[in-house]
Amino acid sequence: MIQCEGQGAVPAPGGVEDVEALLRCLCLRMPRGRQSSMQGRGRRWLPLLVRALRRLYGQRPDFDHWVSDIVLGAASVAAQRGPALLELDAARERAPGWFLAPGRLAYSAYVDRFAGTLRGVEARIGHLKALGVDYLHLLPFLRARAGENDGGFAVASFESIEPRLGTLADLERLCASLRAAGISLCSDFVLNHVADDHPWASAAKQGVPGYRERFLVFEDEATPRHYERTLRQVFPQSAPGNFSHVPELGGWVWTTFYPYQWDLNYANPAVFRDMLVALLRLANHGVEIFRLDSAPFLWKRLGTDCQNLPEVHWILRALRAAVALFAPGVLLKAEAIVTTGQLARYIGLDDDPSPQCHLAYHSSLMAASWLALTEGSGRIVERVLAATPPTSRLAGWVTYTRCHDDIGWNVLRPELSDEPDGGEARLRRAAGRLCGLEDGRRARGQPFQTGGQSGVHGTNGMLADLVALREAHSGRLDPLGLRRMLLLTGLSMTSGAVPLVYMGDELGLTNTDWSEATARPGQDGRELHRPWMSETALARRCEPGTLEHRVFEGIRHLAAVRARTASLAGDVRLRIRPSPVEALLVFERGEAFVFLGNFCGEAVALDPAWALLDAAHEWADALTGAPIAPDGVIDAWSQCWAVPRARTDGQA
Ligand code: GLC
Repeated sequence: MIQCEGQGAVPAPGGVEDVEALLRCLCLRMPRGRQSSMQGRGRRWLPLLVRALRRLYGQRPDFDHWVSDIVLGAASVAAQRGPALLELDAARERAPGWFLAPGRLAYSAYVDRFAGTLRGVEARIGHLKALGVDYLHLLPFLRARAGENDGGFAVASFESIEPRLGTLADLERLCASLRAAGISLCSDFVLNHVADDHPWASAAKQGVPGYRERFLVFEDEATPRHYERTLRQVFPQSAPGNFSHVPELGGWVWTTFYPYQWDLNYANPAVFRDMLVALLRLANHGVEIFRLDSAPFLWKRLGTDCQNLPEVHWILRALRAAVALFAPGVLLKAEAIVTTGQLARYIGLDDDPSPQCHLAYHSSLMAASWLALTEGSGRIVERVLAATPPTSRLAGWVTYTRCHDDIGWNVLRPELSDEPDGGEARLRRAAGRLCGLEDGRRARGQPFQTGGQSGVHGTNGMLADLVALREAHSGRLDPLGLRRMLLLTGLSMTSGAVPLVYMGDELGLTNTDWSEATARPGQDGRELHRPWMSETALARRCEPGTLEHRVFEGIRHLAAVRARTASLAGDVRLRIRPSPVEALLVFERGEAFVFLGNFCGEAVALDPAWALLDAAHEWADALTGAPIAPDGVIDAWSQCWAVPRARTDGQA
């Protein structure tokens, strides 16, 4: 029986009537003026939330207690949501596909590297607007572990901001300023683990009852060894293994990432409840989008690789239903760096009707774009896109060329599985080409977690250095390097719902100085592509003729053309058109957009691909306005965004 204040006990949420009773309790927690809207939402989402919780915790004798505890605990937080955010909730409920409009553009940055502090970020809004950004992903800014903290991904408190970056008041102010400028703030929400100095971890170390159970602790090494047989390694070189010995715990704790990041035990409903409350509190401060960090790892089962297990998806369904109930203006984005086949479920593309995340990173597509560039062939991208199911009307992909992490190659293994060596040689060659001299151009990437017996793992580096934007000897802009950069960016602008630009790439910033990167705490190779924003580069982007101006204008132009191309809305279907020319990648979005990208270093004749364009139209390149002629060519590393001609000359 559920205890509901002022109503006595109500039945457990087993059937429709029980959910109705819970809904009545929930509405009583809301301020009067919000009770009827909560009724409406509750009818749709509460049964889904209860169903997901039942799949996770239904075996427990105290299930009823937990359901009401989770739902009513979250409701108490939602009751405090402020008027501006309630307005946003209402507007987004009226237009649930708002985030799939063709003009969406995301930008991702570390607060300190980008702008020093949260207040400093406000001063950068003009820069973001100039590029066309309307979605700002700030990498972790909550209070992090003292000392090494994986760039803030070891969270010590979900309730406070990292002191050197600002305060909760600064966060609220920034969210409001961004909102006023039409930009949504996205925050990381590190779901899978907390830092070893988070209060739950400290309490577990001190033996406070109820806290050890929030983690996965094993008294002897035998069980971890059993698990290890089927687990993979995220950092095989710098943090091998998935368990760490902690003397205060008298045993081994599960640590998928670094030893100081303790995986949470989601089989314990208290963990789910408290994480949900933490997320909703941040939403009440004004965060509009949550990047659900390391989502695949949330549930463990012996004998599996402990990734993408069905329970992970029930956790995400429960979170989605809770967000839809309590902060419906908020989006969830999955950070699931998994194979194309596994990825679709994260945005609800499976047989179950209840939605999961609104967005997910398409990391196979990202890795494939690099493989394609190094091979001079669009085939691997073709394969990944062909394996990607069409998204639904209310979900989409985040596409990108670079982010704060390495280019992880392993996600491409299924697409390469028909190679005799599983694709190892191709990946090794691609990774090598991004790290050295090739055809007279010097790419300046570095291998990540690669070496020893394990296969090729990842590659680090800023976009500019990976595409060899600058001439090796003079340091001046290489026009072919710019083309390579814009080709990859153009692919990300046309192939999903929300393309993402990583801080500094829009100015052609180079890798972090190596001596600085290696001196940073933790000596994590990914620091190579975590440079400081350069005031000089920012100033030069306004000076025609400079490298920064040319790069910025090139990317801005792609974003601007994209924004006015209706076919590039996130929910318009993408279809591969198998290209007769290996170098050329061809796909269409809807009926009125065709992407043609030449991934090799020589011009290719358009002629063989011409037949792929619908003969009923005359076509033009939306990027240049020039008509497309069948006897034309697509230059080395160039692209063409073909649209029916009437649309570019205003006759449509
Ligand atoms: C995510 C982050 C990465 C971090 C890891 C552990 O993959 O993107 O930077 O190291 O999670 O939190």
